[in-house]
Amino acid sequence: MTASTRLSPAEQIPFFTGAESIRRTWAALEARLREVASVGRFTFGTLGRELEERIAALTGAKHAIAVGNGTDALIILLRAAGVGPGDEVIVPAYTFFASASAVLHVGAEPVLVDVVPGSYAMDPAAARAAITERTKAIMPVHLFSQMADMRTLRDLADEHGLLLLEDSAEGIGMVMGGRHAGLWGGGGVLSFFPTKTLGALGDAGMILTDDDAVAERARRLRSHGQAVDGSYEYLELGYNSRLDEIQSAVLLTRLETLAADIERRAELAARYDEGLAPLAPVVRIPFMAKAAEPGNTVWYVYLIESDHRDQLVAYLAAHGVGTEVYYPRPLTEQPALAPLPGARHPVPVAEAASRRAVGLPLYPDLTNDQVDRVCELVHRFHKELS
Ligand SMILES: Cc1ncc(COP(=O)(O)O)c(C=O)c1O
Repeated sequence: MTASTRLSPAEQIPFFTGAESIRRTWAALEARLREVASVGRFTFGTLGRELEERIAALTGAKHAIAVGNGTDALIILLRAAGVGPGDEVIVPAYTFFASASAVLHVGAEPVLVDVVPGSYAMDPAAARAAITERTKAIMPVHLFSQMADMRTLRDLADEHGLLLLEDSAEGIGMVMGGRHAGLWGGGGVLSFFPTKTLGALGDAGMILTDDDAVAERARRLRSHGQAVDGSYEYLELGYNSRLDEIQSAVLLTRLETLAADIERRAELAARYDEGLAPLAPVVRIPFMAKAAEPGNTVWYVYLIESDHRDQLVAYLAAHGVGTEVYYPRPLTEQPALAPLPGARHPVPVAEAASRRAVGLPLYPDLTNDQVDRVCELVHRFHKELS
């Protein structure tokens, strides 16, 4: 029997759980779900539209277009923005698979470049070096807890006449220079996957854009390419990517606590920072540019790096603490992306991060004591090593 199986469920610290937040907000959620049941309309209804309006107001986007999930949002955004066969899109090599697979799904080629140590976001110099005559767009990702260097990337896109799109799936609440993630160029996306800062109870996503033409085409593409007047006229091939009313009800309920949830995540992250800082440099706590720009930090994932990552993961698991290795290999090593025809670019930072990085539990319902316990275990692990 391992140590973790001897622990009671109450003593275990899962990497993520939404159970407590459902319990906490159950009354409000139930009221919203009753509303869905009494109206009896389950897709493209009033709650979906209300959610689009609320997200548009929250982010400052001219258009917020609800779809089935964040991956669909990326695919539809890329197509709506005019990316297609023959185009190259520059994407970081250290990100979730969908950032690159969405590009392939629209018939274009992802060109994978390295990231910046610490922020894990696209390295503008690497992006510059990867531009060719086929480059159509640059698509940085705002990963884990902070935004990419959008000013430099926007200047780079402008200098070369390229589209700037954002995989801002993790970026809700992240603002830089007064501009929300996803709104620095042609558009961005949000994922409401359950673990996200604003999570549904299943899949859900959204496209954000200030561009009327992109918005109109995205609305068409999410619904089979159907003319937006709702007639049975299909102007182009699209997708079936609806956000249902039940998930909209969940997200509207959770929007009420989003600001408090983001604040609580920051408190927990600060507690981790304090608890783990003495272990430097063997353990590296997240490097954040927050001193310069407080708004661009939203603690979605608390990612540390350790020289002994895999042993640390096993040790924490044996003591009942869940972790998530984001990401165990850079996209350059994904079998599904191996036949990419374009130039290969060196990605040493992404390679090192994939060997060293691991996410610790971070969600609003985590207690201070639980964070202290994780920190204590990380300390004990390193002590036992030496
Ligand atoms: C960076 C990034 N891109 C894309 C996605 C895809 O979103 P979804 O899982 O909602 O399809 C996610 C989330 O899972 C993500 O974290």
